[in-house]
Amino acid sequence: MIRQALAELRRMAAGQLRPNAPEPSSAGADVGDDEARLAAVGATAVTVALCRAAEDERDQPWFHDPLAVYVANTAEPSRATIPRPGLVFWVAVRTRFLDELALDATRAGIRQVVFLGAGLDARAIRLDLPHDVTCYEVDRSSVHELKKRLLLQAKLTASCERRVVVADLTSSDWLDALRAQGWMSDSPTCWIAEGLLIYLKPEPRDALLRQLASVSPRGSRLGITATSSARAAQAGIWESGVDGDPAKWLESLGWSAEVSTLQQAAAAFGRPVTVETERARSAILIDARPTVPQAALPNMPPNARPIQRTTERAAE
Ligand SMILES: C[S@@+](CC[C@H](N)C(=O)[O-])C[C@H]1O[C@@H](n2cnc3c(N)ncnc32)[C@H](O)[C@@H]1O
Repeated sequence: MIRQALAELRRMAAGQLRPNAPEPSSAGADVGDDEARLAAVGATAVTVALCRAAEDERDQPWFHDPLAVYVANTAEPSRATIPRPGLVFWVAVRTRFLDELALDATRAGIRQVVFLGAGLDARAIRLDLPHDVTCYEVDRSSVHELKKRLLLQAKLTASCERRVVVADLTSSDWLDALRAQGWMSDSPTCWIAEGLLIYLKPEPRDALLRQLASVSPRGSRLGITATSSARAAQAGIWESGVDGDPAKWLESLGWSAEVSTLQQAAAAFGRPVTVETERARSAILIDARPTVPQAALPNMPPNARPIQRTTERAAE
């Protein structure tokens, strides 16, 4: 059943891959109709899980991801969808970067973590977050359906409260769907948008980031990944990239950002980029805080310390 669902998502995406496309599975090309495109985008969640499984199997991995390992053992990847070393490396670096950001945010007192385009992200399970943290996972129904079955089958449960939000992040009412699951706009939130923004056109992408800033009280955090427009243009399924200074772009949307390149983050983590792993040359990692002035909010726990900027992350 699960194998069938995985295969279905992957077939719809992989069937449209160009030979030698720059990215074997997250960058399917020329996706013709909306339905096929949605399936292809959903299938990227499986590819990312396969990358995390590859990291899990390394000697001294940066993280363990039991859901990803389960997917890898279940999915029987075909040649077309085995992630290349450069993609595996990029996913490992960004996973560690955003793991640290989410852990830092919850240590600082944030009790709401929202995964935007959550895919098969297993942070709610594998980060051992405190019981009073609520993780909201926002994605489309087909991805959530698959994830639900995978989690049941693999007998995996979250240490914190985990809530599923079925929504299209480009719709006008996705925030209502998040609220309906209990999320509160007057409490600081840690937003994680990992591997998501490239699938949104520039206008809805910027509208989403602006909207997040408008509902992020002081103390909130935003972790995102992005790439350049030139890089994004290489693959038909990708919709947008970032040009110029990413910090200025985010400033215009209400965020004060620290930007790290893949190379900087990888070097800071002690595993520098090599020729083999340099695929995502223009990939960047962003750690941002809202700049919109907000009053001190009653819902921040009393023991929450002010969030300090960390400088050790990237050798800038
Ligand atoms: C490359 S995957 C990344 C998944 C996850 N963040 C991770 O890193 O493991 C992209 C995910 O974004 C989701 N996504 C893309 N566009 C979306 C939209 N408009 N609304 C909701 N989810 C979306 C896809 O369904 C997919 O699960």
